[in-house]
Amino acid sequence: MSAQIIDGKAIAAKVREEVRQAVAKMKADTGYVPGLATVLVGDDTASSTYVRMKQKACAEAGIHSFGHTLPGSATQAEIEGLVAQLNDDPTVNGILVQLPLPDHIDEEAVLNTIDLEKDVDGFHPVNIGRLAMKGRDPLFVPCTPAGCMRLLKEAGVETSGAEAVIVGRSNIVGLPMAMLLQKANATVTICHSRTKDLAGHVRRADIVVAAIGRTEMITGDMIKPGAAVIDVGINRKEDASKKRGYRLVGDVAYESAAAVAGAITPVPGGVGPMTIALLMENTYRAAEIALSKK
Ligand code: GUN
Repeated sequence: MSAQIIDGKAIAAKVREEVRQAVAKMKADTGYVPGLATVLVGDDTASSTYVRMKQKACAEAGIHSFGHTLPGSATQAEIEGLVAQLNDDPTVNGILVQLPLPDHIDEEAVLNTIDLEKDVDGFHPVNIGRLAMKGRDPLFVPCTPAGCMRLLKEAGVETSGAEAVIVGRSNIVGLPMAMLLQKANATVTICHSRTKDLAGHVRRADIVVAAIGRTEMITGDMIKPGAAVIDVGINRKEDASKKRGYRLVGDVAYESAAAVAGAITPVPGGVGPMTIALLMENTYRAAEIALSKK
């Protein structure tokens, strides 16, 4: 069997084009242009790159972006003060505080400060709480897990009644992914570093989401034939044939898993592009919410 390859790059491009058109229509109809503020604290290379990519995506979608950078030595009060200022700014619809924050900062307190209606990352405790609860809906869903759900939908994967196994329990991906799949009527198991029989759990799964940050940890022999495999990992693997000395691989051993799976996301070009696409969609929705209150 050869798996259907879920083309995240193409699906993300489609989502971004839809957002671009919706933004253009909003501007033509109302004169209003959505705005996203990014807050970067410190000079972590990966975080700086992600923020730059988000700003570039805004420009392509016709969304205003307002970049704020604070030094790594910024205080709790300075960061929360900036967020409060952005909460009050009517040109800002979405506030994205890039994580992780420096160790001396209380992340939860910062996320708590973000106006619920501007929480385009969906990390505010109230939005996460609503995501967890039956019969309640958050205003925004975290972008990476929302992107994974979109990929499953586009690939025609049935979630209702499916056995879903998530490997990894991070606040940004594993946990909200579990809650989304549960809301979509899957039977959900979360595996993590203390799980005793990882392979046994994964082997039962109709849907596997690998978000543990370990190079090629999930191998083809662990995959149930026909399962859908969503690989959130982005890891560097030594590769002397590449000029830079490495290539990017996921948390799934792609070749062996693709030989067994029914559908699989590649790395790169799978989940990665979806995060930014869903951030654009959330920012547009935040602007719709703001407009509805005018
Ligand atoms: N760090 C890693 N992923 C994310 C994300 O989706 N949003 C934010 N704000 N920080 C991150």
